[in-house]
Amino acid sequence: MLTGKKITVGITGGIAAYKTADLVSSLVKAGANVRVAMTSAAQKFITPLTLETLSGNPVHTDLFPNGFAGGVLHIDLAQNTDLLIIVPATANIIGKAANGIADDLVSTLLMAATCPVLFCPAMNVAMYNNPILQLNIGKLKEYGCHFVEPSIGPLACGTTGKGRLAELAEIVYNIEQMLTPQDLAGLRVLVTAGPTREPLDPVRYLTNRSSGKMGYALAKGAALRGAQVTLVSGPTNLNAPNAIDKIRVETAVEMRDAVLKHSDHSDLIIKAAAVADYGPMEISDHKIKKQADNMSIPLQKNPDILGELGTRKKDQQVLVGFAAETHNLERYAQSKLEKKNLDLLIANDVTLPGAGFDCNTNIVRIFWADGTIEPLSKMAKEQVAQEILDRAIKVLRARRGEN
Ligand code: CTP
Repeated sequence: MLTGKKITVGITGGIAAYKTADLVSSLVKAGANVRVAMTSAAQKFITPLTLETLSGNPVHTDLFPNGFAGGVLHIDLAQNTDLLIIVPATANIIGKAANGIADDLVSTLLMAATCPVLFCPAMNVAMYNNPILQLNIGKLKEYGCHFVEPSIGPLACGTTGKGRLAELAEIVYNIEQMLTPQDLAGLRVLVTAGPTREPLDPVRYLTNRSSGKMGYALAKGAALRGAQVTLVSGPTNLNAPNAIDKIRVETAVEMRDAVLKHSDHSDLIIKAAAVADYGPMEISDHKIKKQADNMSIPLQKNPDILGELGTRKKDQQVLVGFAAETHNLERYAQSKLEKKNLDLLIANDVTLPGAGFDCNTNIVRIFWADGTIEPLSKMAKEQVAQEILDRAIKVLRARRGEN
């Protein structure tokens, strides 16, 4: 997502400054060219050498350095960049930026920036709640600056409250989003992900090997491109960005209820969840005890959520299903596409190395309603998600008579 992007990171003086080492390292790993500017207070918490080593670029601390041959430093750093991010953003830098004060390198960058600006505040809860700071944040938002809200939790000063620097993943998500064209803005996308869990008794359940990675990649991919995303997720270990409306469910029946509640007003529905086809007929309210050598568990069919969505599909709605197969992939995929009234079906052979459950890559074939079959090569699930979204949007735009 960040390949070739130029990001200037302004670090100011709060204890969370130590976390910028991880942030800069992640941005560089994601392909960005990162340049760092630090205030003198920031250097009390983390050294320029650390950031220089991680960014692979010189770190700037002085507004008027000797020997800068590349032009005027603060103009170059502020304007020869795709994004300026201030992390951690102290009450002081927010106050300076909101009031046009430029008395060191980082505050001067803010005055000179022509690119989008992202502030990541971190401070004591009382400072964060101070009406002067809130007024300054409001003012900067009005001028078009973006903010990643601090999270709630234990603070360095020993208190607990809102003021912790947002999680690294959340900051990176916001950076990616600001650098991604918002071609899905205005669309409502509903995604399902993960397995379902069908309880047998208070300690046991039936489930499958789905990790949820494909569905989460689709939800995040759509949100990055500006869609309003609802993610209905079975039990997984994954986190989704705050911008996504998450609904956690356990069973197929709970998933059906959540999906049907949101389906009517969704423009695009992608059912990546591996829904259990059957669940126990009865759920014991006590632990089932070991008795005979053999035992059978009577199962009953769960609702076919995608099938139901296919029957209710509205004119301008696009419905995408998945099929995880171990054999006869083409035949099963074609039949699911038709039977469930889908626009696209994403099929994968889960027996192939690098495809299917619990891995970071996938190898899919895309089945179109007109009979076209499009094989994609092995790629990261995030990339597969973008490919699927590109095609779903193409179908949606064609249906709406748009280009
Ligand atoms: N699906 C669903 N509800 C179910 C079963 C499946 O919504 N009860 C959806 C899945 O989310 C997926 C698609 O239907 O998008 C295909 O799921 P899959 O398990 O491959 O197919 P089934 O229709 O269940 O058929 P089979 O298990 O016999 O292959």
